[in-house]
Amino acid sequence: MSQPIRILVGTTTGNTQYVAEEAHFTLVQAGLAAEVHPMDELNATIFANGGLFLVCVSTYGYGDVPANAKQLYESMVKERPDLSAVQYGLISLGDSSHAQTYCFAGRRFDQILTKLGAMRVGEILNHDASSGVMPEEAAAGWTADWLALVGTRANA
Ligand SMILES: Cc1cc2nc3c(=O)[nH]c(=O)nc-3n(C[C@H](O)[C@H](O)[C@H](O)COP(=O)(O)O)c2cc1C
Repeated sequence: MSQPIRILVGTTTGNTQYVAEEAHFTLVQAGLAAEVHPMDELNATIFANGGLFLVCVSTYGYGDVPANAKQLYESMVKERPDLSAVQYGLISLGDSSHAQTYCFAGRRFDQILTKLGAMRVGEILNHDASSGVMPEEAAAGWTADWLALVGTRANA
């Protein structure tokens, strides 16, 4: 793979940014090229040349994607590009006290990416803010496992 792993960050109050930085650290420590992109200015063209992505997103409102993720999410929904050259992992932050909409933003991203032909690598990490586990701690362990799955594909 000629491109770095791109870590896309959708956040409202910053927890997901810490998670992304932790994941970035884990990937770079393992010798992989990776870069963090806040979702703010992004749209579906970020996926144009395919590659490996790590989508990190929290849930807000009533099961919504964060404001800084709206443009990217909506452009995927509207433009429906072919994402069959995209592989992705997904870290989804939420709070189980929002029982009806727990981690829905991550589910929304997973559903649209899959619908557009992208392939998810590994299980989704759903982090529960009520669990007492720090999200970046959960992310470090999850990313180490994800590395084992993507290591053979990344930077090859
Ligand atoms: C106003 C508000 C609404 C929220 N709505 C949801 C929700 O619908 N579902 C959910 O799972 N979590 C919800 N959460 C929890 C956040 O997703 C969680 O605290 C997360 O860690 C925030 O990450 P961030 O700082 O990266 O935005 C909500 C939090 C707030 C403050």
